[in-house]
Amino acid sequence: MITKDATIREIHHRVKNNLQTVAALLRLQARRIESDRGREALEEAVRRVGSIAIVHETLSQNLDERVEFDDIADRVLAMVAEISPGKVTGRRTGRFGILDAEVATPLSMVLTEVLQNALEHGFREGDTGTVEVSAIRGGTTKEARLLVTVQDDGIGLPEGFDPHTAGNLGLQIVRTLVEGELGGTFDMIPAPERGTRVILDIPVRADK
Ligand SMILES: Nc1ncnc2c1ncn2[C@@H]1O[C@H](COP(=O)(O)OP(=O)(O)O)[C@@H](O)[C@H]1O
Ligand SMILES: [Mg+2]
Repeated sequence: MITKDATIREIHHRVKNNLQTVAALLRLQARRIESDRGREALEEAVRRVGSIAIVHETLSQNLDERVEFDDIADRVLAMVAEISPGKVTGRRTGRFGILDAEVATPLSMVLTEVLQNALEHGFREGDTGTVEVSAIRGGTTKEARLLVTVQDDGIGLPEGFDPHTAGNLGLQIVRTLVEGELGGTFDMIPAPERGTRVILDIPVRADK
């Protein structure tokens, strides 16, 4: 007999394969576009689809609809690091821990946008630097929270930048997912020394 768990895993596997096909098609199309802006936009779309595929792949390896998000965060970091080969180093500190699938998918998309921005806007061509993702599980047992910061040591935000109204599609996606879907808060501030710090505070289920 095929169990319900095995069926769900198989479905996640198929969804992952289909998303990877979509990403591959977008990548092929991106290669044929001569305009830099057009190509970059399609490459962003490839990574957006890719980050959702990463979550489904992880879900296809698990029995329940929960995932160890640290693995996902590391894979998203590796995927986004391809924007700036070798020059800017990404790393994770702390633990995201176990998250429900409903949290993991929007969070992986948010992380993708924020990391893409750090690499695309935080540094000039040829700059070296670091982008650090740090995660802490906090709050009380009744009201558990996940605190995530993404900090770069790059050039910093533009003059007069308001993270709650500014931006294009990327920040719109971040605000919609964090404040709408995840019921959390989002902010962007200048990092203490230099660069930018993005702060996410998200309600989650207790880890254990
Ligand atoms: N880490 C960062 N360092 C410097 N500027 C940033 C950073 N993150 C976001 N920004 C600014 O926010 C703007 C909006 O980002 P976004 O909405 O993702 O649109 P896009 O990436 O397409 O420009 C960027 O164009 C950039 O000016
Ligand atoms: Mg962006």
